[in-house]
Amino acid sequence: MTKSTNIVWHESSVTKEDRQKLNNHKSGVLWFTGLSGSGKSTVSVALEKEIHALGIRTYLLDGDNVRHGLNKNLGFSPEDRTENIRRIGEVGKLMSDAGVLTLSAFISPYQEDRDQVRALLEEDEFIEIYVKCSVDTCEDRDPKGLYKKARAGEIKGFTGIDAPYEEPVNPEIVIETDKQTLEESVQTITDYLKKAGYLG
Ligand code: ADX
Repeated sequence: MTKSTNIVWHESSVTKEDRQKLNNHKSGVLWFTGLSGSGKSTVSVALEKEIHALGIRTYLLDGDNVRHGLNKNLGFSPEDRTENIRRIGEVGKLMSDAGVLTLSAFISPYQEDRDQVRALLEEDEFIEIYVKCSVDTCEDRDPKGLYKKARAGEIKGFTGIDAPYEEPVNPEIVIETDKQTLEESVQTITDYLKKAGYLG
């Protein structure tokens, strides 16, 4: 919903391309999606460490952290999740405009919401990474004890239990954290990034 009127877009004199050139690498958003406990945070933290060490300007936006600040007024209803993802998408776009290779790690359970973010960005600026892992394995891991609470009915509308997760239709990358090691998952992504020219 658009509420702002009488606003005018201002172009800046330094462009995204200028910033990318200065940084010597492309920018964009690495969009991790998957169930709670699938490994989005673990893989994105390890990946950021690795590519930062290669001299890439990065920033990691993480579900739980962003919900402590920017999105603390949002819950987990379908509408709030959609708004959560919309805001993150807009932040990712600003970050990418600033020349940063941004990693975002949110469940982002709805295909349509992820597609909206994709549509905000240029074609080579959005890389959807499906962090695939069975609900059973996520529930066994249960790092935050939330699946247990969801089963006990203490959390309603928990993704994978009584709220949906829509698997990505056509993601750029799929990693399978119940089959691959952390190192292998990170390697799969860095191989892709190298080939696609994101690492300078
Ligand atoms: S999203 O669906 O809007 O993309 P997001 O990634 O920001 O979710 O937040 C997910 C995190 O919030 C989970 O890892 C978990 O720690 C916590 N959480 C709390 N309630 C729920 C719920 N009902 N469903 C899923 N995750 C929840």
